[in-house]
Amino acid sequence: MPGLVVVGTQWGDEGKGKIVDILASSADLVTRFQGGANAGHTVVIDSEEFILHLIPTGILHPRKLCVLGNGVVIDPKVLLSEVDELAERGISVDGRLLISEAAHLTMPYHKLIDEAKEVKRESRRLGTTHRGIGPTYTDKMGRVGIRAVDLLYPEVLEAKLEANLEEKNFLLENYYEYEKADYHRILEDYRSYADRMKTWITDTSRVVNEFLSRGKRVLFEGAQGALLDVDFGTYPFVTSSNTTAGGACTGLGVGPCKIDGVLGVTKAYTTRVGTGPFPTEFSEELDEKMRVRGKEYGATTRRPRRCGWFDAVLVRRSVRVSGVEKVAVTKLDVLDEMERLQICTGYEYKGAVMSEFPYQTAILDDCRPVYETLEGWAESVRDVRSFDDLPVKARAYLDRVGELVGVEIAAVSVGPRRDQIVLRDSDLW
Ligand code: GDP
Ligand code: IMO
Ligand code: MG
Repeated sequence: MPGLVVVGTQWGDEGKGKIVDILASSADLVTRFQGGANAGHTVVIDSEEFILHLIPTGILHPRKLCVLGNGVVIDPKVLLSEVDELAERGISVDGRLLISEAAHLTMPYHKLIDEAKEVKRESRRLGTTHRGIGPTYTDKMGRVGIRAVDLLYPEVLEAKLEANLEEKNFLLENYYEYEKADYHRILEDYRSYADRMKTWITDTSRVVNEFLSRGKRVLFEGAQGALLDVDFGTYPFVTSSNTTAGGACTGLGVGPCKIDGVLGVTKAYTTRVGTGPFPTEFSEELDEKMRVRGKEYGATTRRPRRCGWFDAVLVRRSVRVSGVEKVAVTKLDVLDEMERLQICTGYEYKGAVMSEFPYQTAILDDCRPVYETLEGWAESVRDVRSFDDLPVKARAYLDRVGELVGVEIAAVSVGPRRDQIVLRDSDLW
């Protein structure tokens, strides 16, 4: 199975970084296809923690080649500081990082607009990461974006920047009453980024397709989660890209028949950062308890993540829209001390029970989750390494989760480290 897509099935932070890291050891190429520096993927190797925002997790494996596809939006400043940080920790990206010519660049004015928009929204804030993601994708779709290839053509970069700033600065100053972006400063900075990045910029669609046609193993590392997908998520409380599996095709220039499998990553409970509906959100007390146990603080913004019970309705939607065939359930150990566990199987709304996740986000604010209650296992699963050795009640919980979401649970993560994984078969890929 040479091409495998790994996607989040909730609101992000499911532990994709950890699962991709495990899979990357048997990959030839690791790619990102959407999102940008809003992502925060954590990998724990021995006792060392790495948080990657833009560079695919595969970079942590010596000699693996990594690609940022055309669907990714790249903030060169963040990218280069990530490269430098890795170098300080003994990891070189030399000859191992490729960037699509067609990838759009996040510019300083995108970040200013992201912030200014949030300030203006006041009580209706989306709670974005302030990484300029929405405004960068807006310019892409508006056909005024600056792409990685433009870094190789200084005169194109200058002309596009000048044209864009005319409009952006007018908006920033007059509509948002915010600070403006400086043309000369940006040009100087982006010229210096271009010097460092120019050898990485290439036609990555060609590279990825060549790998696939030679039968090499290509991993497609999703960022965010299905419920943050701009089409299938809790719109407008979403990010601005297609986080679902289809994004791998458009975000890298790969045909759907070239991809052989889709693995979903699902947390054993639910979390979300930022605002927006969350039907199974815990009460304040339980929320705090889980946040502490699960260390649920944003990997990008350090914001506390909101926590709640596992929601099978939501994951079922994610499984369908991404064609997920198998799931890896993460953070099972975080539930170790729970006496009782609840799984949401439907939403009660205006006297009727809905078993499908609604597109009308307002329904999610007013519905009441319907729960099934299961007993907790009251022992640690952190040292368990085989399905058979999991406590009977933990297996019952996982079986019910698998049954409700309609796919096989192929792996269970029982701690943040690489070795803390339970595989159904020896081969996850
Ligand atoms: P991602 O964005 O999907 O890659 O997830 P994040 O890295 O933002 O958040 C997942 C967090 O959970 C990270 O701090 C991981 O180190 C940690 N983690 C991953 N799997 C497990 C697990 O099975 N148990 C525990 N306790 N922590 C885990
Ligand atoms: P990973 O890849 C969790 C959320 C933000 C906000 C919304 C829009 O680590 O799973 P944006 O900055 O994208 O415009 O913010 O999306 N968000 C994430 N939440 N994990 C992420 O990435 C996220 N990336 C964006 O909190 O609610
Ligand atoms: Mg994350």
